[in-house]
Amino acid sequence: MTESKEHTNEHSIDTATGENAPAELSSDRVQKIFTDIAWDYERFNRLSSFGQYVGWLETLIDNSPITSDSRMLDIAGGTGDVSFMACSRKKPKEIILSDYTPAMLEVAQERLDEGENRGVPMELAVVDGQDIPYEDDSFDIITMSYGIRNMPKREQALSEMFRVLKPGGSLCVLEFSTPPNPLMRLGYRLYLRWGIPLWGKFCTGDASGFIYLAKSIKAFPDQEGFAQMLREAGFTDVEWTNVTFGVAAVHIAKKPL
Ligand SMILES: C[S@@+](CC[C@H](N)C(=O)[O-])C[C@H]1O[C@@H](n2cnc3c(N)ncnc32)[C@H](O)[C@@H]1O
Repeated sequence: MTESKEHTNEHSIDTATGENAPAELSSDRVQKIFTDIAWDYERFNRLSSFGQYVGWLETLIDNSPITSDSRMLDIAGGTGDVSFMACSRKKPKEIILSDYTPAMLEVAQERLDEGENRGVPMELAVVDGQDIPYEDDSFDIITMSYGIRNMPKREQALSEMFRVLKPGGSLCVLEFSTPPNPLMRLGYRLYLRWGIPLWGKFCTGDASGFIYLAKSIKAFPDQEGFAQMLREAGFTDVEWTNVTFGVAAVHIAKKPL
């Protein structure tokens, strides 16, 4: 680990609206939400996405250029779905499964204790993706699913991920996005407005986190908008694959050699 760094881009937003706001507003809220739902998180994901969730993760891992030599950092790794799927489908050399919310990592630790890493060396670490405590040029692969949307300092987060990737390394991001088809888009907006909060209340007894989820998805840039943010952070060869009509997308971006 290294000492914390000077950051030149401190721009921050309210992740529920996209409006400028102090970072603490979103950071404190997101940590409370994920602390409260940590043990219900996986069940909710399966139910709310009608089982699509696993297929989206498979697309993330299958599209990511992970090899048996890869040193991988999973940012906002939560309860470990991305990391454990990487273990079963690609077997990288080692993984740091990191997240900002300790309660999410407690669930990941239980899964690690049960052997879901299938022998792949794995370390768990509390890490803020906007201020990554690792050396420059440390990782071949960074994965992040449903992380960047929850970060109020997105430019700083992407620049930190760029910094700790090795030249030639890849950032692989799964995030909710915008269906290009207008009819699908309308249906999806209605589901976000009414369906997600109802499902959330049914699964966890509290709708507030899910109202936030729906708002933050609506406020997040579309596929090209996020690709542009990646280019502005220095990434090249930015490509994306839509899943389920563009409800979500997998972006892969390279740090140039
Ligand atoms: C929707 S969950 C995704 C978890 C996991 N990647 C998955 O696909 O199941 C979002 C995660 O982002 C984490 N998170 C939010 N802000 C973060 C930050 N600044 N740095 C790192 N993780 C953050 C939360 O603690 C939460 O675990």
